Amino acid sequence: MTAKQTNDIKKQKGDFWSRPGAAAVYERGVSSVSPFIQIKNEVERTLVLRHAKGYILDAGTGTGRFAIPLAKVTGNSVVAFDYSDEMLQLNRQLSRAEGVDSIRYLQGDVEHLPFEKDHFDSVVSVTVVRHFPQWRAILKEYIRVTKPGGKIVFEMCSGDHIEAANRVVARFGAKYSKDGFLSYEAEVRFDELREWLDANGVDLLERHTYDFLNNNCFLKIATFNQLGYRVLLKAIKLALTPKPLYRLAAWLELTMLSRLPPVYSYNYMVIGRKR
Ligand SMILES: C[S@@+](CC[C@H](N)C(=O)[O-])C[C@H]1O[C@@H](n2cnc3c(N)ncnc32)[C@H](O)[C@@H]1O
Repeated sequence: MTAKQTNDIKKQKGDFWSRPGAAAVYERGVSSVSPFIQIKNEVERTLVLRHAKGYILDAGTGTGRFAIPLAKVTGNSVVAFDYSDEMLQLNRQLSRAEGVDSIRYLQGDVEHLPFEKDHFDSVVSVTVVRHFPQWRAILKEYIRVTKPGGKIVFEMCSGDHIEAANRVVARFGAKYSKDGFLSYEAEVRFDELREWLDANGVDLLERHTYDFLNNNCFLKIATFNQLGYRVLLKAIKLALTPKPLYRLAAWLELTMLSRLPPVYSYNYMVIGRKR
């Protein structure tokens, strides 16, 4: 991929999230009652609240899925940072509705953070880094602004999962080559990421494989086609709709399934500590 394509993808994505109404659509999606979304939310929220402490940067904060509970539940000091003013405005509105007025809002680009080095105790960035081919440059910025000993919490699209599925049926990943560059996702093998983090001064503390139901290539293979996949997802959705059941599924993901190798899910979350 050329440098121009790499920059175009970042620009396209930023502009996409800045369209009028984009924040409201995003918020409806992430607060959906679908058990798959609820399980994903619960796992991500638990891990973020468990690890991010002190003075926190929520990079690519969106509508405040993490910034608001981080400020409200834990009383941490949070900077909510995003390229999209549309996202920041709704974030601000939702935080006021929750009685939170301590979040500081800033607009900008995650690849060029307007903070000095060693500035934050923690950096959180969920469903952001994976969107960009320049994920290394963005992570370097997160590392730069984190204090030594501070934590970095983010998730990635599992290259292990896509490679393993392609060994069975070669038709997964590289969505952008089929659907255009707006759908780009960095498919990164966990070992590659761990080595890269280590070489860039970050110790890996934890890796959680999670979100086994969204976009799972093996479920797609097992059900042979799109229709079969959709029917299976509908059936799982119905089975998991009662709150105690999806909470049980989230608990299983957090306590046991998260240890499975990242081959089994499209997503994994990483908690690193800057040396
Ligand atoms: C999928 S949303 C994730 C939002 C939030 N972290 C969450 O998990 O709910 C991606 C966010 O990244 C933001 N974004 C896109 N490009 C960005 C850039 N270059 N710098 C900062 N934020 C960016 C978008 O505006 C959007 O709010």
